[in-house]
Amino acid sequence: MARILTGIQSSGVPHLGNILGAILPAIEMSRAPGNESFFFIADLHSLTTIKDAEVRKHNINAVAAAWIAFGFDTDKNLFYRQSMVAEVCELTWYLNCMTPFPMLANAHSFKDKSEKLADVNAGLFTYPVLMAADILLYNANYVPVGKDQLQHLEMTRDIAQKFNHHYGETFVIPEAKIDEEVMIVPGIDGQKMSKSYHNYIDIFQSDKELLKVVKSIVTDSLPLEAPKDPDTCNVYNIYKLIADDALTNTMRNNYLNGGFGYGHAKQELYELIVNKFAAAREEYQFLMSNPAALNHQLEKGEARAKAYAQDTLGLVRKKLGY
Ligand code: ADP
Ligand code: TRP
Repeated sequence: MARILTGIQSSGVPHLGNILGAILPAIEMSRAPGNESFFFIADLHSLTTIKDAEVRKHNINAVAAAWIAFGFDTDKNLFYRQSMVAEVCELTWYLNCMTPFPMLANAHSFKDKSEKLADVNAGLFTYPVLMAADILLYNANYVPVGKDQLQHLEMTRDIAQKFNHHYGETFVIPEAKIDEEVMIVPGIDGQKMSKSYHNYIDIFQSDKELLKVVKSIVTDSLPLEAPKDPDTCNVYNIYKLIADDALTNTMRNNYLNGGFGYGHAKQELYELIVNKFAAAREEYQFLMSNPAALNHQLEKGEARAKAYAQDTLGLVRKKLGY
């Protein structure tokens, strides 16, 4: 049995790129019979950048609701808010005292963030130690992350090895799991879809707003009658990531044959999103307007996570002589 753990940033409503590139593949992986998945909303990490309590709360709920709406099984897996298992903060302190200052000072992500952000706080600096605590508290074997998080995983391994060396076998040494074939979903302007580029499609918006965004996908200005190249068209390139083979082929032929305008393609993409994601959109709205139901789903994972966390902390305290 492998224990898979990963933290999900709570940076706002997940967009189509997050859903196709991260949420659906992770849910798929969590269904494998031999795996036990610990997935959590990294809402303590988000305090490094988001100071407004209401904004943070909305983001946390939106992320959790999206995962559950897409079928993440909160009984088979542990799904929890990082902040609800505050034991992680205690472990962070112990690990802080085992972490060499230069290791943190040389972290790429800290250097990056401290150049870009106005608020360079100590939380940003010790961000990798909280991340190490997230992982080591639960003795995770595999940690699926993007390439940008690899250095943080290396630090986690270093910190764990140092602790084990000093105090005897305590932590499992985790391994990063990088998916080399990640799908890149283009945004409405053709660049990678991203919150930071404001080019994303939020499928959880109302039908009207969704249609407006789909209509704003950038295309060239070939007239309706002209044959068109599907492969260079943003509408087609998004459509093919959602549609099955038969629909994709039909759309492809429509482009190549001409007599099919970008307006038609956009309408079909809009209808496909609405149909394909009907159940998820409905469940998302339900959870967002019923915080008690959403909380109930999370609290199940939090109770179980807390029990694991207390076991590990008990052992760590003993080793440290507390
Ligand atoms: P954003 O760029 O919108 O801020 P994040 O960096 O928060 O998105 O990414 C969260 C997860 O979603 C990551 O696993 C990331 O790889 C995935 N992801 C983000 N954008 C895309 C995209 N355009 N295509 C595929 N996956 C994406
Ligand atoms: N830092 C990760 C990111 O930016 C999120 C995260 C927090 C995480 N704690 C973690 C990922 C533990 C894996 C394991 O995406």
